[in-house]
Order: sequence, then C-alpha cells, then structure tokens
Amino acid sequence: MALYSEKVMDHFNNPRNVGVIEDADGVGEVGNAKCGDIMKIYLKIDGDIISDVKFKTFGCGSAIASSSMATELIKGKPLSQALELTNKAVAEALDGLPAHKMHCSVLAEEAIRSAIKDYYDKNGIEYDKTRFPDPHEEEEHHFEDD
Ligand code: FES
Repeated sequence: MALYSEKVMDHFNNPRNVGVIEDADGVGEVGNAKCGDIMKIYLKIDGDIISDVKFKTFGCGSAIASSSMATELIKGKPLSQALELTNKAVAEALDGLPAHKMHCSVLAEEAIRSAIKDYYDKNGIEYDKTRFPDPHEEEEHHFEDD
C-alpha cells in the first residue's frame, strides 16, 4: 500500500485555497516546534459564515494537504462548525495519514481555531477560553501526537 492516499497526493499537488486574504477578518498562525513547519490561515467572515478562507503553509506535504482539505471543509460553513473540526476529521477526509504524520493535521485544526480566536478578539466577541488552549502549551502536545 502506498504511504500516502490519492487524496493526500491530490491536495498536495493541487492545493485548494492557497494564498492570502489582505483584508481578512481573522488570521491564525501556528507552528510545530519539532519539525519547524508553519501554517497560516486567513478567514473572511460574513455574519456567522466563513465566506472565504485561504492558507499559506511552510511545511511538509502532509501539512499542505491538511491545510487544503481543512479549508475546503470549513468554507461556507458557520464558525461553530469550523470550531468542531478536529485533526482526525481532516485526516479521515484525506483517507488517512501515516501515524507519524498525524501531527501535520493537528496544525490545520489549531490554525483554524487561532484564526477564529483572532476574529473574536478583534471584534470583542465573548467566547469560551477553555476551547482555545495556549498554543505554546500545545507545542508539547504535538510530540504526543506523533
Ligand atoms: Fe511537521 Fe508535517 S512534518 S507539519
């Protein structure tokens, strides 16, 4: 069996939603201290709906495929749904990732949360802080996800 699914290869070779939104309503940037990869997500929010999303990922193929799939999964969706997106759901939508690459999908989940948090903070919207752990504490968490 190939190490990477056809979907991973497709989203790596033809990533969707690559780029920058200059007037984004929320921007999230996260990194993994171990591999050094960085992911940045830009959201345009209309009411409660993510009307547009773009990403820039300086990282491995799995991180690029995860970003691409994650942006597809949240585009046009309400914020509440985007907040529920887990790295496992991203990996499943890609027909799986090798175990040692699961942390790449964690970056996508965290970058989306970080962008939504940025939107909430900029607009003075109250939110449940326990749903947005400190990303620096999360870095330790990544090692366990490997
Ligand atoms: Fe670090 Fe993939 S190897 S995100």
